[in-house]
Amino acid sequence: MSEPSFLTAVRESYDTIAADYVEHVPPPAALDPLSRAMLAAFAELVRTAGLGPVADLGCGPGRVTAYLAGLGVTAFGVDVSPAMIGLARRAHPELRFTEGSMTALETGDATLGGILAWYSTHHTPARWLPTVLAEFHRTLAPGGHLLWGDYVGDERLQPTRSYGRPVSYESHLLPLDQMVGLLEQAGLTVVARLEQQPDGRVKRPHACLLARRP
Ligand SMILES: C[S@@+](CC[C@H](N)C(=O)[O-])C[C@H]1O[C@@H](n2cnc3c(N)ncnc32)[C@H](O)[C@@H]1O
Repeated sequence: MSEPSFLTAVRESYDTIAADYVEHVPPPAALDPLSRAMLAAFAELVRTAGLGPVADLGCGPGRVTAYLAGLGVTAFGVDVSPAMIGLARRAHPELRFTEGSMTALETGDATLGGILAWYSTHHTPARWLPTVLAEFHRTLAPGGHLLWGDYVGDERLQPTRSYGRPVSYESHLLPLDQMVGLLEQAGLTVVARLEQQPDGRVKRPHACLLARRP
């Protein structure tokens, strides 16, 4: 089956801007204290449960994957952009990074202790989110946790350039309550939510959800 057109656009766009992304987006250590607290809580939950590794889905250049590894978590990264995966492998040769899409993961059922989806689902049109979240549910072990962080809103953005280069991806921002509903429909239990207003670094409302596979 041929892949959906949004995925081709995401791959081509991030292949084009991968190096600019690393240059312009601050590393995880520069995240605001609340986001870092969510990452730390997620890492502690996953470590304590000991149910398996964390998949960082839409890992980009692998900096958050490495940040989690620094918090004592066994983590690997998956991204649809070969250029991003190449950057991740070069920057973090001790970690595993593979090309793949969160719409159809090459990961066994119930094998993950955790999933991180960090600013990586907003390019997925809403009609495809149930497919993605079904993959999250399928691959998480019972008791495993998902940490989702992303922009929230009610908007479809269609930029033509990013970092001065041509892009064809779109961003589909959802109200946080809608995202919570989709997670619950996928069989995941939302255990914590953090909604944040735009700040100096992030220009849009953004949020984190911590969810658990029962
Ligand atoms: C805004 S970047 C965030 C990267 C990384 N999570 C970080 O915080 O540095 C979004 C990333 O998600 C990836 N992505 C988007 N949709 C994806 C999908 N369906 N499967 C895998 N990767 C995807 C893109 O290729 C891109 O590298």
